[in-house]
Amino acid sequence: MIVQEQRTARHWDLAYRHGTVFEQVTDAEQQMFATFVRTIREAQDMRVGCRAVDIGCGTGEWTRALAAMGIDVRGFDFSAVALSKARKLSLGARSDRQPSYELWDVNTDPIPTSLVPGTIDIVTCRLSLSYLDVARFLTDVRRWLAPEGVLHVVTKVAEKQPEPPEMGPYVLPHRGLDERQLKALCQGWRSVDGYKLDPQGETTALVLQHPVDASFP
Ligand SMILES: C[S@@+](CC[C@H](N)C(=O)[O-])C[C@H]1O[C@@H](n2cnc3c(N)ncnc32)[C@H](O)[C@@H]1O
Repeated sequence: MIVQEQRTARHWDLAYRHGTVFEQVTDAEQQMFATFVRTIREAQDMRVGCRAVDIGCGTGEWTRALAAMGIDVRGFDFSAVALSKARKLSLGARSDRQPSYELWDVNTDPIPTSLVPGTIDIVTCRLSLSYLDVARFLTDVRRWLAPEGVLHVVTKVAEKQPEPPEMGPYVLPHRGLDERQLKALCQGWRSVDGYKLDPQGETTALVLQHPVDASFP
């Protein structure tokens, strides 16, 4: 029941309307991303464009960080309230490159036409993958990625989460993916890398490249 509520656009709209923010993007997070995601480094070295999509972008803090790295990025979310905030915040951002945003329920809506197969260099899911129909989503990601494309996932690790504090009526604790799901996720790729975003590994990042056929339990 709680999980169902957590997954509706209405729930997220309420959360964002009440000013909910999630983990803020730090300089260290951006540096680790640039270090571990080869596609960006190569694009920067070769001065060629790099196309990314940010899935479950919320108010777009991470989307804007990607744009500030010179990446051509589009954020998708099914919360209209979040996207409205994201658009306003992006107008005020100091960056030559503006991200674009699009309303999309990843689990139920048709795939947007902008997601042309074989054209996306980076798909990012920052604190959003655990809300998605992962098996279906991964099948689609494999199709969208360019040959050297990367799926970059930032997620909480369920087993490492401390007991949740009382967060008020609009935010339910986010547990992320558990170790078994993370292992299954990695098995679907020939190149797997990763790093911890904090010393305890409560939040972790995976860099997945070169998909193989694999199913997510
Ligand atoms: C924990 S928030 C993370 C937001 C943002 N990525 C960040 O790092 O601040 C999870 C986001 O996933 C979005 N989301 C959840 N289920 C979704 C779905 N089925 N389709 C699109 N977005 C979804 C929510 O609206 C919410 O903005």
